[in-house]
Amino acid sequence: MEILGIDVGGSALKGAIVDVQSGKMLTERVRIATPEGGKPEDMAQVAGQIVEQLNWKGPIGCGFPAVVKKGVSYSAANVDKSWIGTSVSELFSKYTHCPVYTANDADVAGLAEMEFGAGKEYYNDVVLILTLGTGIGTALFSEGHLMPNMELGHIEIRGKDAEKRASAAQRTNKKLSYRRWAEHLQEYLEHMEALINPDVIILGGGISKDADKFMQYLNTRAKLLTAVLLNQAGIVGAAMYAKQQLSAAENTAKS
Ligand code: BGC
Repeated sequence: MEILGIDVGGSALKGAIVDVQSGKMLTERVRIATPEGGKPEDMAQVAGQIVEQLNWKGPIGCGFPAVVKKGVSYSAANVDKSWIGTSVSELFSKYTHCPVYTANDADVAGLAEMEFGAGKEYYNDVVLILTLGTGIGTALFSEGHLMPNMELGHIEIRGKDAEKRASAAQRTNKKLSYRRWAEHLQEYLEHMEALINPDVIILGGGISKDADKFMQYLNTRAKLLTAVLLNQAGIVGAAMYAKQQLSAAENTAKS
């Protein structure tokens, strides 16, 4: 089954058509910069452009960088505050003319990484997946089950929001060397281990492609891995999420 996956990020919206059985992207990844200010209507318009460029008609899965319940955003750390209380699914649907299913971006990236990536051998473990980008996204799995909307990127470290110290964007913004940035990430990982005790930690987000530049500075009790799907996880996982929702609706209709 083919579904369009859209990964909404603080810096860009990215989309591709995905074969949800194999987890493979069937098209090029379309990437359009997040409009200045990250306002709802502007971003929805960009989602519409992605759909147009890929000439898509059909269900859309969307990963959105906030707490998302039943398609509605309940937070807005790196997008405009007017997203709070807005139905991402309804608004994107209006601009794309397609049914849209939305969940937290890290949660959906985690779904993809657990099924097709670094997590697939760790189904029986407690796995924490981090997406290091504009913010820090977190997805927690126990025996393959996701605990949604964990928002562990916002714990406080040294009086600051953790993602303001250890996200990938902070490395670029503050012009930190990989070594110096890895010290912040190490401290963050130590907090995660103390609070959650995962068996496996998977580092994802665009920066995972540069793993050879910083993995040597990190040391955890948990098995520490880098994501296999790199920056495709958000798109593939968004499509997988839509598939889950469609199957659930089908099952309800049958019973
Ligand atoms: C948001 C999360 C999101 C993460 C990664 C954080 O600032 O609060 O909801 O998953 O960034 O985009």
